[in-house]
Amino acid sequence: MATDVGGVTTDSATATVTDTAGATAAGSTTAVGATAATTAGVTVRNLHRSFNRSGGVLNGLDLDIAPGEFVALIGRSGSGKSTLLRALAGLDRDVEGYGRISVPRQVSVVFQDSRLLPWRRLLANVTFGLEGKDAAERGRRALTEVGLAGRERAWPGELSGGQQQRAALARSLVREPQLLLADEPFGALDALTRLQMHALLRKLCAVHKPAVLLVTHDVDEAIVLADRVILLDEGVVGTDVRVDLEERSQADPGFAALRRQLLDALGATGEHLGSDFIAPGTRRAS
Ligand SMILES: Nc1ncnc2c1ncn2[C@@H]1O[C@H](COP(=O)(O)OP(=O)(O)OP(=O)(O)O)[C@@H](O)[C@H]1O
Ligand SMILES: [Mg+2]
Repeated sequence: MATDVGGVTTDSATATVTDTAGATAAGSTTAVGATAATTAGVTVRNLHRSFNRSGGVLNGLDLDIAPGEFVALIGRSGSGKSTLLRALAGLDRDVEGYGRISVPRQVSVVFQDSRLLPWRRLLANVTFGLEGKDAAERGRRALTEVGLAGRERAWPGELSGGQQQRAALARSLVREPQLLLADEPFGALDALTRLQMHALLRKLCAVHKPAVLLVTHDVDEAIVLADRVILLDEGVVGTDVRVDLEERSQADPGFAALRRQLLDALGATGEHLGSDFIAPGTRRAS
């Protein structure tokens, strides 16, 4: 599996991963961390992860994501969303645990901050590590797709937060990932920029058709973007609902019902709202 992390591609298919918990998954599959690619989608079975021998963060999690499917992952703060994302990206080899993970060959990761290299111009950031004579041309096309045509020679520091995230998306998509992992990629953006990024991400996904796992605290964002919303609870996938709306907006009569269902599942109803919960439509900067 080649994973593009902030423009740096790592290949974990050949990596040796130590099972520090001393346990292995049942059956013939005994890999810890990401195994070599076997499918175009994602298969996770019996995934366990824990830190410092404290209680488990992921406790036998199972998950399937079909090729091209867009899944939003919600859950309370500290419920293990980033832990799961890092496991899928093959970025958690120092973490205790076991289980089976199968992901596509080409995986890209987008974080809340763009992770652009400040000493490289924009095009060089997007094409960093990219091979082939047409790398620059592909990079330019990707920048055009995200609305940054003409900014190829800009330094990252000259861009707004939203533009930096657009560049991060371009850097991911230029590699044509079969799986895009995104950990609160719009969490630090203002409300309007966030809405623009939603539209952009939907457009890009329609064109490139990667499977997507998007971590978000924003229930509305999850409903607007995803084919399916899953809730991480007690280290496993609790709620798992398909978003079956005619219109991807609050104008759809089903929107409010789905939002209520997800908020209830989060335990975020009425006076129960905790400090780790973000109200729909608002933003969180963590
Ligand atoms: N490197 C680490 N060392 C020790 N504990 C960790 C480490 N990373 C995460 N944890 C713990 O694992 C649990 C899950 O963390 P994780 O970051 O996956 O949660 P999250 O759902 O992404 O939270 P948030 O919504 O706040 O980003 C938390 O209790 C956290 O304290
Ligand atoms: Mg997190």
